[in-house]
Amino acid sequence: MTMQDGMSHFSPGPDMGRELRSALSRFGTGVTIVTTSTDAGPVGITANSFSSVSLDPPLVLWSASRASRRYPAFREAEHMAIHVLAENQMDLCRAFSASAHAFDQVDWRESERGVPLLQGCLARFECERYAEYDGGDHAILVGRVLKASVRQGLPLLFYGGQFGQFAVGA
Ligand SMILES: Cc1cc2nc3c(=O)[nH]c(=O)nc-3n(C[C@H](O)[C@H](O)[C@H](O)COP(=O)(O)O)c2cc1C
Repeated sequence: MTMQDGMSHFSPGPDMGRELRSALSRFGTGVTIVTTSTDAGPVGITANSFSSVSLDPPLVLWSASRASRRYPAFREAEHMAIHVLAENQMDLCRAFSASAHAFDQVDWRESERGVPLLQGCLARFECERYAEYDGGDHAILVGRVLKASVRQGLPLLFYGGQFGQFAVGA
């Protein structure tokens, strides 16, 4: 690692994992919970890798860690719902980070397609499976948005490993 112009410079490698994570965490994101249903019941996961992809057709993506015990459920899923969290939903974020089965912590109902829909989020995208791409130790799951829901409010944000809120014009 070298220091120049007030920045650390390094090439990613096996011994640089912490530094790479730290650099990537400089990109602030929102936070989502992705849900789907399985034969064994509903499953959810906290994910900040969500991104919009295309308006026409309407496509979104998130990246699932192949090492996650929840990955098989999402790999097999024909439908999923992606929930953008509001600033008061940090507990829910932590709950679905710790467990795939935190549905007792939130009001939810099933969509016509059997997908768990969580209440209280800022936006929700109900998706059908569109594509899966190789993303190294993650899989890039692309969904086609069949239904979008949105309300006014402020988001939960994630930056540098910490949660925070949006400050308008700060
Ligand atoms: C803020 C935040 C963002 C996360 N984003 C992702 C993500 O984009 N993709 C992913 O696979 N896991 C992500 N995780 C990790 C999962 O939520 C969960 O902790 C992990 O899947 C637990 O391992 P398990 O699935 O084997 O139980 C994130 C966790 C946090 C707290």
